[in-house]
Amino acid sequence: MEQYIIKGGKALAGEVTIGGAKNAALGILAAAVMTDEQVTIENLPDVSDICIQLQAIEAIGAKVERIDRHTVKINGGTINSRSIDDDFVRRIRASYYLLGALLGKYKYAEVALPGGCNIGSRPIDQHIKGFEALGAEVKIQHGMITASAKKLVGTHLYFDCNTVGGTINVMLAAALAEGQTIIENAAKEPHVVDVANFLNSMGANVKGAGTDVIRIKGVNKLHGSTYSIIPDQIEAGTFMLAAVATKGDVTIKNVIPKHLEAITAKIVEIGAEVEEFDDAIRVVANKRLGHTQVKTLPYPGFPTDMQPQIATVLAMSSGTSIVTESIYENRFKYVDELARMGASIKVEGNTAIIDGVAELTGAKVCSPDLRAGAALVIAGLAAEGVTVVENIELVERGYENFEDKMKELGASMEKVDAEDEKSNRKARLKIG
Ligand code: EPZ
Repeated sequence: MEQYIIKGGKALAGEVTIGGAKNAALGILAAAVMTDEQVTIENLPDVSDICIQLQAIEAIGAKVERIDRHTVKINGGTINSRSIDDDFVRRIRASYYLLGALLGKYKYAEVALPGGCNIGSRPIDQHIKGFEALGAEVKIQHGMITASAKKLVGTHLYFDCNTVGGTINVMLAAALAEGQTIIENAAKEPHVVDVANFLNSMGANVKGAGTDVIRIKGVNKLHGSTYSIIPDQIEAGTFMLAAVATKGDVTIKNVIPKHLEAITAKIVEIGAEVEEFDDAIRVVANKRLGHTQVKTLPYPGFPTDMQPQIATVLAMSSGTSIVTESIYENRFKYVDELARMGASIKVEGNTAIIDGVAELTGAKVCSPDLRAGAALVIAGLAAEGVTVVENIELVERGYENFEDKMKELGASMEKVDAEDEKSNRKARLKIG
């Protein structure tokens, strides 16, 4: 088991380059198998969730060739199975995008039913509603969800809630259905748009992605393509808040500033400075920041995937802040860990009431999920003394070279094997 050891108190400074968007890549990799021709995906983040998605694709017979760390060639022409087993779905929920992709292509797919996870129960009723509306028969038996159809026919669908996964999954299946599908109340997240753009680059006809009505005219088949994934909005936002928390001066390169507007607005509101360039953003903080209210909402609202990171910054800001989580029921598990570092946060239902303290102090903390783990790293970077963050394999699901990127910005942070006492001692000596 690996862990991060962080000596806090250093202002981050310098430049960091953001990788491709994990959540766009997960949908795009599934979409890539919908053609029998070769697809090249560039700017792929090298994180564990992506490796598992590639393994899931390989396991059904697709050819996967890694060209370099961030480029992969995929050929779905050799697929010999339409079944994604439990092992993959347990490790990453997003392997369920293969349900929409294979249903669209072969009119049959079976995928293990994903369970809940550390941030709450996560039903997929809207995905099923969409597949059924396209004419598929969907059955759940023995832990598997099976979708089959003689043919898929375009439909007019209204989602009951705003769902990124449901929008992408139904968009995939509808791309190869007969006639037009209209998805109303569609998710507008940048990664939904990126998957739509990728499908269009393969010859699909998807219009309106990024608005709440997406129109998909089904085509008979898709063709090969070369496509570069957009920058990761959440990785960028995490570095923005790490800069703010440590009262640093960081330029974050390879970003789309428009995707970061909700985060930028909050950072400015609490008193830090943000300078926007074409594809970079500079964040400067040089004083203790103020309090605010944050409510997570679907895009373009404040992203739930940035909620633990902003709450961590607010835990060190002056005054009382309120953070309301409106997407997930259980995304405050990290609060008890922050409390070990001296934070004063009370959770009532889906609201965290944060009384800012002057300083956090280093402690041993355990990451409950990906974004909460990133937030604990931010807390450790800002805290006085040494913080040990355990369970970092969760952080590595979505952040490539996290400790190296932080170190390049001046952080004292090492990744060590918890069982290896020698490397542990060495790391502690290194961080001072
Ligand atoms: C995506 O999850 C992201 N994952 C999540 O990122 C992100 O937190 C989430 O969108 C919200 O932005 C990927 O893109 C792979 P949803 P997804 O369907 O698609 C309810 C991260 O840290 N719902 O938009 O699973 C659901 O319970 C992760 O990178 C239904 O009720 O999220 C939730 O309350 C974690 N029925 C809300 O909608 C459904 O059929 C939003 O879920 C589907 C969803």
